Amino acid sequence: MSGWEIFWDVVPYVTLAIVIVGTWWRYRYDKFGWTTRSSQLYESRLLRIGSPLFHFGMLVVIVGHIIGLVIPESWTKAIMTDHVYHLQAGILGAIAGFATLTGIALLIYRRRTTGPVFMATTVNDKLMYLVLVLAIVAGLSCTLIGATPGGAEHDYRETVSPWFRSIWVLQPRGDLMVQAPLYFHIHVMIALVLFCIWPFTRLVHVFSAPIGYLFRPYIVYRSREVSAGKELVGSHRPRRGW
Ligand code: HEM
Repeated sequence: MSGWEIFWDVVPYVTLAIVIVGTWWRYRYDKFGWTTRSSQLYESRLLRIGSPLFHFGMLVVIVGHIIGLVIPESWTKAIMTDHVYHLQAGILGAIAGFATLTGIALLIYRRRTTGPVFMATTVNDKLMYLVLVLAIVAGLSCTLIGATPGGAEHDYRETVSPWFRSIWVLQPRGDLMVQAPLYFHIHVMIALVLFCIWPFTRLVHVFSAPIGYLFRPYIVYRSREVSAGKELVGSHRPRRGW
């Protein structure tokens, strides 16, 4: 058994342990910090474009991962040819991946250029953004390389996907993952790092986001109205003072 095989057998469980214990720890000791730390109050024009582009793009990427990693190859082969599978995975994956990347690029641009948003950005946020962007870029590279004639020779449904499923049935098949090309190793390693830091970042908001969260209206922030030189708080006009 090679070192790499042991790595792919063991590291997913270390990651799972960090995610479970880390999430428990965060909930126990930082319940009130369990938030997206929304910065909508400071800027909403770019947020209104970047945030849905990123989140809906990510939703399609997640559905793509479920189809590619969870559903066995024999099932997808039963309903479509290999050519159709790779065509739809390549086209939909590339569109979703680019939408996600454009969304996150807009969000990071906004964060850097809007003074108060930048001031509210911690080192923790910066590290999280870096790993998140690297995971997306590496994933998109896998899809794009897979669309080239050389890349198409490797079918990840026979290596990465069965390895992924083997983790959950407690019979790790690191030997399969070892056979995947280097670009898949890089993407999955970055993804595992992202999962390890997840509980300690603002990404925890994902664990408490019900589906309705995606469609709810933005939080309503009321501005203070100014009337006849006096500030009015809330929607009620104060009674006259005389
Ligand atoms: C253990 C976890 C993961 C595995 C095994 C995995 C595996 C894969 C595979 C096999 C592909 C190629 C899909 C195709 O070309 O049809 C891919 C693409 C991609 N991955 Fe991952 N991935 C993981 C986690 C993540 C995470 C955490 C992110 C982002 C935060 C991510 C973002 C992407 C993106 C953007 C693409 C390209 C678009 C797409 O095909 O949906 N992946 N991933």
